[in-house]
Amino acid sequence: MNEIDTKILSPDAVGLTVAAELLSGGGLVAFPTETVYGLGVDARNSDAVARLYAAKGRPSFNPLIVHVETLAVAETLVEFDEDALRLASAFWPGALTLVLPLKDGAGISPLVTAGLDTLAVRVPDHALAQSLLAAYGGPIAAPSANPSGQVSPTSFAHVRDQMVGRIDGIVEGGTCGVGLESTIVATRPVPTLLRAGGLPSEAIEAALGQELAQAGDAAAPNSPGQLASHYAPKGDVRLNAVDVRVGETLLGFGAVEAAINLSASGDLVEAAANLFNALHQLNALGAEKIAVSPIPEHGLGRAINDRLRRAAAPR
Ligand code: TXA
Ligand code: MG
Repeated sequence: MNEIDTKILSPDAVGLTVAAELLSGGGLVAFPTETVYGLGVDARNSDAVARLYAAKGRPSFNPLIVHVETLAVAETLVEFDEDALRLASAFWPGALTLVLPLKDGAGISPLVTAGLDTLAVRVPDHALAQSLLAAYGGPIAAPSANPSGQVSPTSFAHVRDQMVGRIDGIVEGGTCGVGLESTIVATRPVPTLLRAGGLPSEAIEAALGQELAQAGDAAAPNSPGQLASHYAPKGDVRLNAVDVRVGETLLGFGAVEAAINLSASGDLVEAAANLFNALHQLNALGAEKIAVSPIPEHGLGRAINDRLRRAAAPR
């Protein structure tokens, strides 16, 4: 691919106006959300979406999340059932993506849904993302702003290092507060967790008054594109390491001696916010063998472990 001149855009009205113009012209613009940086395109423009897949080197069967300003805008794109409305009211804006039936005439590019008759939507809880959506005035499809198979970016520097020359602009926001992608839920045929993420599933279950089915259960829909290596750092990963072997770099959790510690105090929220940055750092350190401390399998620990298991999968 030819190198593109990537504009670095200031996080103010001037920068966001340029970002909106780039999007209108079919451009690719990375912007911060509360979860991770997204790589945005006009969700109605198939040429732009195709460029997005190319810039990410993304397998084309992996559909994208559409970002909108409000629930009211989301309702113009997808059909909300009662459970979906309850979840949107409880958690939007926020780190929850809902997969719902796409409305006829919504105008969303089929490349965004990868041909499915459902669409993933969310309302981000980040001032710059909200301002960009307002300035642009349309639905923005945005996967995480990393090349496919690489770690999701949680800071401006991550995006710049991975995407300069491949995309049209980057909004220079700060660090993403949540640091994990959104939790993805489908409400039909039964409420189902498609991807663990920044909103703990316990909170969703409490709002619904019922347990979520897991993707892969008989009644549950599949989440396409949950590629095993999606979250891989370059080194080999060994999980649940209670010791460190010769040649290993420890990614720690809790009170351990570690090259990088996700949370020395054993705080899962802090660990989640640090996770992708830590995986980037392991790459920067050139770690060839990575040992990871045990991380408890509850709350955000589930999403962290899900990502680490993908990182450890053979590839
Ligand atoms: O926090 C996030 O969700 C970030 C920020 C930028 O919003 N975005 C993000 O997008 O993580 P991405 O493209 O990296 O992940 C999208 C996920 C994929 O696992 C995809 O399979 C799933 O959403 N997905 C999208 N549309 C779907 C659909 N119609 N049915 C099932 N899963 C879907
Ligand atoms: Mg991603």
